[in-house]
Amino acid sequence: MHRRKFIQQTGTVIAGSLLSESVLASALPENKKRIAMVGTGHRGTGMWGVEVLKDFGHLVEFVGLCDKNSGRVKTAKEMLKLSCPTYTDIDVMLKETKPEILIVTTMDSTHHEQIIKGLEAGADIITEKPMTTDEKKCQAILDAEKKTGRKVHVTFNYRYSPHRQKIYELLNSGAIGKVTSVDFHWYLDTSHGADYFRRWHRKREFGGTLLVHKSTHHFDLLNWWLDSDPQEVFAYGSLEHYGKNNPFRHTHCRPCPHKDKCKFYWDINKDPRLVKLYVENEKYDGYHRDGCVWKEDIDIFDKMAVQIKYANNVQVSYSLTTYSPYEGYRISFNGTEGKLDAWIHERQPWEVEKYDELQLTKNFGKTEYIRIDNTEAGHGGGDLRLRKQLFNPGEDKWKQAAGSRDGAMSILVGIAARESIDKGKPVKIESLTSLKPLAKKPVNS
Ligand SMILES: NC(=O)c1ccc[n+]([C@@H]2O[C@H](COP(=O)([O-])OP(=O)(O)OC[C@H]3O[C@@H](n4cnc5c(N)ncnc54)[C@H](O)[C@@H]3O)[C@@H](O)[C@H]2O)c1
Repeated sequence: MHRRKFIQQTGTVIAGSLLSESVLASALPENKKRIAMVGTGHRGTGMWGVEVLKDFGHLVEFVGLCDKNSGRVKTAKEMLKLSCPTYTDIDVMLKETKPEILIVTTMDSTHHEQIIKGLEAGADIITEKPMTTDEKKCQAILDAEKKTGRKVHVTFNYRYSPHRQKIYELLNSGAIGKVTSVDFHWYLDTSHGADYFRRWHRKREFGGTLLVHKSTHHFDLLNWWLDSDPQEVFAYGSLEHYGKNNPFRHTHCRPCPHKDKCKFYWDINKDPRLVKLYVENEKYDGYHRDGCVWKEDIDIFDKMAVQIKYANNVQVSYSLTTYSPYEGYRISFNGTEGKLDAWIHERQPWEVEKYDELQLTKNFGKTEYIRIDNTEAGHGGGDLRLRKQLFNPGEDKWKQAAGSRDGAMSILVGIAARESIDKGKPVKIESLTSLKPLAKKPVNS
């Protein structure tokens, strides 16, 4: 019996989720998975387009591409050298192409619409982070997944880097005893950090603020490393560098009269791929990929500090800064028997090392330095391992696969932090959706 028909007939959640796992696992060359994509921008065409076709083209077949920008979806088809039809209406695409997997790589605030439509059309979903941007949309996704019995996979590529995998291994082997608190600080630089203020991400209504759009990665890492659910959040945040905090501004960089004096001037014309995707398709939607970082409509925070209490009693101090001279993070796990320190510089003005380092210090004992090779492309090979886990999975030794509950728990920290900043009070995670925080979090749920 055909899988889709079987699920419609049984209508049971259990049958649906078990089958959905095995469907991804049993992809065979002679039985390629039918995949469709909605949102054919930078991420869709790259990580989930060219790269999927390169390594898993023998297991999957694109049956449709959809984007609200009618020019960009055609550009994507050309870039991916596909022959499948293109659409600007997801309903028509789902009806005509009947995908088994829908890849969702649109703007964050619209993910829920496409995820729910995909689930209702009988597809499993692979969605980019953040799963969505507010608690109501999050609940709607959880409800739709339950109702349809399909599966939502959330693509937390950060879990797959060798450095972060090693942290997971050490913490879970008890290397520093019981973890009691964490100090976690993430720095975005004046290039990548500034880029969020050029694009749609600069508006809370589209990306949910960087506490959701960006920090979802960081909060997911914490949830995964600590193996627990967040319980309560308190936060501060403000916008005091970008946006209105500058004496001059324009619409976007190309026609800007201030380009000679603006340190944040950026020439999109130097990147042929971005010109093809965005500049050549501006005429369809008026979207400027090189928007001014000083625009007065910017309404997200550019510095954020968050306190999180976990259901297993771990306390976290987290911060995000968006205009640093180098990009990366520093993290310190404090345990009953020692301390684990880690740092990564993703971009820096000094020479790059070919390894990442961890510092493990035992209470009353010695310090050990652990070096992890970082030369593999795509986040130390993490991006490829994530795609493999989705399209041709094996054993999930470090429990890196993530579902909608993981997707929800990570954004709920950011949503709670945003609410806490707005209202000036702590926010309980359980007040946001039907999910109840657990001291030990479920795996791939
Ligand atoms: N995991 C990571 O490290 C990572 C990195 C980059 C982006 N992302 C995520 O990938 C997603 C896409 O990001 P991007 O950088 O490619 O953005 P983008 O702006 O380049 O692409 C988004 C595309 O979605 C289209 N779109 C927007 N709303 C739509 C709708 N309602 N229906 C159909 N199409 C719609 C836009 O026209 C655009 O082509 C985002 O959710 C982002 O958070 C994740």
